[in-house]
Amino acid sequence: MKILEASGISKVFGGLTAVNKVDFHIDEHEIVSLIGPNGAGKTTFFNLLTGIYEPTEGRVDFLGAELKKSKPFEITKLGMARTFQNIRLFSSMTVLENVMVGQHCRTSSSIFDALLHLKRHKNEELRIRSVCEEILEFLDLTQYKDEIAVSLPYGIQRHVEIARAMASSPRLILLDEPAAGLNTNEKVEMTTLIRKIRDRGFTVLLIEHDMKLVMGISDRVAVLDYGNKIAEGKPEAIMKDERVIAAYLGKGAEPDA
Ligand SMILES: Nc1ncnc2c1ncn2[C@@H]1O[C@H](COP(=O)(O)OP(=O)(O)O)[C@@H](O)[C@H]1O
Ligand SMILES: [Mg+2]
Repeated sequence: MKILEASGISKVFGGLTAVNKVDFHIDEHEIVSLIGPNGAGKTTFFNLLTGIYEPTEGRVDFLGAELKKSKPFEITKLGMARTFQNIRLFSSMTVLENVMVGQHCRTSSSIFDALLHLKRHKNEELRIRSVCEEILEFLDLTQYKDEIAVSLPYGIQRHVEIARAMASSPRLILLDEPAAGLNTNEKVEMTTLIRKIRDRGFTVLLIEHDMKLVMGISDRVAVLDYGNKIAEGKPEAIMKDERVIAAYLGKGAEPDA
């Protein structure tokens, strides 16, 4: 089943076409990677899907309905969650608290309940806490739950970000360079984590530079270059695609450290 479909979407910034008439879809339970050189339009494409930008043209359908002018928080509520290229954890919060923030969109208590400390709010908080603790357990993060998130090793912080995205109970998770800045071991752990969340029933779209990770994990790969989708297919076919090699792989541009 098609969970998301982008039809001819573009984004123009002033004179620059960052994303140019891109058609794209992802089926439920797939892992799809979006690759391309720096500046190709990958993050902008994510921003179009998640409502941070409105497409200059084209449309996005998610779970069978057009997103139109939906705001990011509304799209999260519909079931799309994301992580950012630069880690965005709250610096004064513990791991558990950071993950609980992700559940916020599923919360029914109003701010007044919170202020008045009504029983309903207390129950809601207990429920959220137990859902989030279960997610931490699933991602092997329980040992860190009371630590200040930003004090942890970078690789763990990347896992915490994914835990927070999972906490909004999404159907589709978008990961923007989840392995950026990770060492070889941490990349292997990230690969395991992404497989694990897919096996739990999530659909995963990721932007990633590490070819080994991309080729080992993806059901399908789409390639952007100067805002255009220049190729799409199974990892083995993408590796051999001449346009892809010329635009990207051939340059040896991999920050494969
Ligand atoms: N908010 C913005 N305003 C103007 N130009 C932007 C903005 N966001 C991205 N761009 C430009 O759009 C192009 C694509 O950027 P981006 O989507 O971040 O690429 P990628 O994630 O593939 O590296 C780049 O040339 C970038 O400078
Ligand atoms: Mg980017």
